[in-house]
Amino acid sequence: MDTSHLVLTTQMHIDPQVIDLGAGQPQFSLLPLHRLQRAAEMRFRQGDPSFLQYGAEQGDGYLRLELAKFLTRGYDFPVTPENLFITNGASQGLDLICTLFTQPGDTIFVEEPSYFLALRIFADHHLRSVPIPIDEGGLSVEGLEKELARTRPVFLYTIPTFQNPSGYTLSAERRARLAALSQEYHFLIVADEVYHFLNYTAQPPMALAGFMAQGNVLSLGSFSKILAPGLRLGWIQAEEARAKAFAGCGLVDSGGGLNPFTAAIVRGLLETNELRANIDELRAVYGSRVTAMDRALRESLPGAFYRVPQGGYFFWVRLPGGRDARALLEQAERYKVSFRPGVRFSSCGGLHDYARLCFAYYAADQLIEGVERLKHALEE
Ligand SMILES: Cc1ncc(COP(=O)(O)O)c(C=O)c1O
Repeated sequence: MDTSHLVLTTQMHIDPQVIDLGAGQPQFSLLPLHRLQRAAEMRFRQGDPSFLQYGAEQGDGYLRLELAKFLTRGYDFPVTPENLFITNGASQGLDLICTLFTQPGDTIFVEEPSYFLALRIFADHHLRSVPIPIDEGGLSVEGLEKELARTRPVFLYTIPTFQNPSGYTLSAERRARLAALSQEYHFLIVADEVYHFLNYTAQPPMALAGFMAQGNVLSLGSFSKILAPGLRLGWIQAEEARAKAFAGCGLVDSGGGLNPFTAAIVRGLLETNELRANIDELRAVYGSRVTAMDRALRESLPGAFYRVPQGGYFFWVRLPGGRDARALLEQAERYKVSFRPGVRFSSCGGLHDYARLCFAYYAADQLIEGVERLKHALEE
């Protein structure tokens, strides 16, 4: 009996004949089965069943303690357990922020381009997304100021570091300016910082979470990119009073803190420094893929424009000769290669000549083969 329809999600439905450079998830071999097995065994051996009970509303206290230590070291500024609210991942954190802070019809600002599935969450909440342009230095603060003169958003959604899809990173100067503007114009900054620890060259500028004292910042973090998406575990980092406000919402009042079971296992990986070791491994693997893919793109698509990503998961490529990415996708199908067309990342139906290519799901040789197939599709 074919049961594949029961186990494959839409995100995971990839024809094995196709090299789908659109898939934005880690390769199966990079999922840390054995690290998690050891951490789970350790937790079960302790014989304390409290992680099977309803959890503390703000999230497992021991996890928050270990996570605060990890973030303090990683970000190089102090983070306390009181600043953290545990979520089922950044997507759920974003959805909860929309539930608690917005009303249908409210205006929010998003980057152009932005993470396409975040745009879907905003649509679920009937929010009006206003695009703010970005460039290689991240969000255009000038563009933001221009828009602020016209409208006040409830929040600005930004992916400041190794952005999805562009790979661009907001400069340190712009981060400071953005934080100041959020106070001057009374809007929240929802900073989706899920790629912050996946740098392959120099350290990125200080996380936007570090601007809490100078700005109205809610920072989203996740274990999806640094451990495994199936854990469904992440966090919102906020000022103490705001973190407590999340813990007072109806969702956790009824169901208890989010994901105490997984939290208790992941805590073990923090206690033993395994998370750090996992991140170091991922950085080495992904970093070498960036080099391979850059070389392949330069050789096979010399007319394409892109910046080599310094971290994250993606190459953001402007197609040669302003080609329409959706039209190319049809041709690409015949050559058994795929990608995400730029228009998916636009909140105003633009970016037709861009393609997002992910290097997390395939090994270097398949990435090179994928780019080669794209070349043939383009030549047709
Ligand atoms: C910018 C960004 N935010 C959030 C997510 C989803 O995160 P999570 O798995 O923690 O919900 C992704 C995954 O692709 C992402 O790229």
